[in-house]
Amino acid sequence: MSVLFAPSLLSADFARIAEQVREVEAGGADYLHLDVMDGRFVPNLTWGPKIIGDLRKLSTRVFDCHLMIVEPERYVDDFRKAGADIITFHYEATPHAQRLLSHIRSLGAKAGISICPQTPVAMLQDLVEDCDLILVMSVNPGFGGQRFIPRAMEKLREARALIDARNPACVLEVDGGVGTENLRAVVDAGARAIVMGSSVFGTPDPAATLRGMRAMLAG
Ligand code: DX5
Ligand code: ZN
Repeated sequence: MSVLFAPSLLSADFARIAEQVREVEAGGADYLHLDVMDGRFVPNLTWGPKIIGDLRKLSTRVFDCHLMIVEPERYVDDFRKAGADIITFHYEATPHAQRLLSHIRSLGAKAGISICPQTPVAMLQDLVEDCDLILVMSVNPGFGGQRFIPRAMEKLREARALIDARNPACVLEVDGGVGTENLRAVVDAGARAIVMGSSVFGTPDPAATLRGMRAMLAG
């Protein structure tokens, strides 16, 4: 079974971002996870399409854009133009998720939907066929370095069952509080794309950290 590593640049040092991107690429990153925050959907701010377009020049890896913004439908075209390969928005951020998923696909990107800790997996049962990726948040979005919320483990199992039954090609991603201590457990629960910020960039050698994690899963 293949597991995709998606280091989150939220925890990277942007003063030396080219080097940090090279490090996680050397460590075997599959996706680069890019957290877009608007200070409204979440109480923090990050970056928009300009920065993502600039980062695009540094890497050919899959750009996995996680939009934590209100009214995501206003911005998905811009993120696609900037080079996003996967565009994930929040279920809680729009009343017309199905329309937005199919719009993202019409742009030639993979369409993802994310649920916050408050939202049951069951809310996705009428959307799963329209998704290329489901992202289960295992922290309340907004900041890196938070603790994994234990209930998320069961939600991953629920999402795995929904995906297996209805759209096996859909990728199940987990985001928040994942590191060496619970990596095996989230994979066993069904996650196949693993977002990790502080547990990768918070270590002295992100490439070695990722390689160690890969070896851990193989062992
Ligand atoms: C949080 C972001 C995450 C964040 C995860 O809202 O969506 O992608 O970078 O950071 P860690 O892995 O440190 O919990
Ligand atoms: Zn994220």
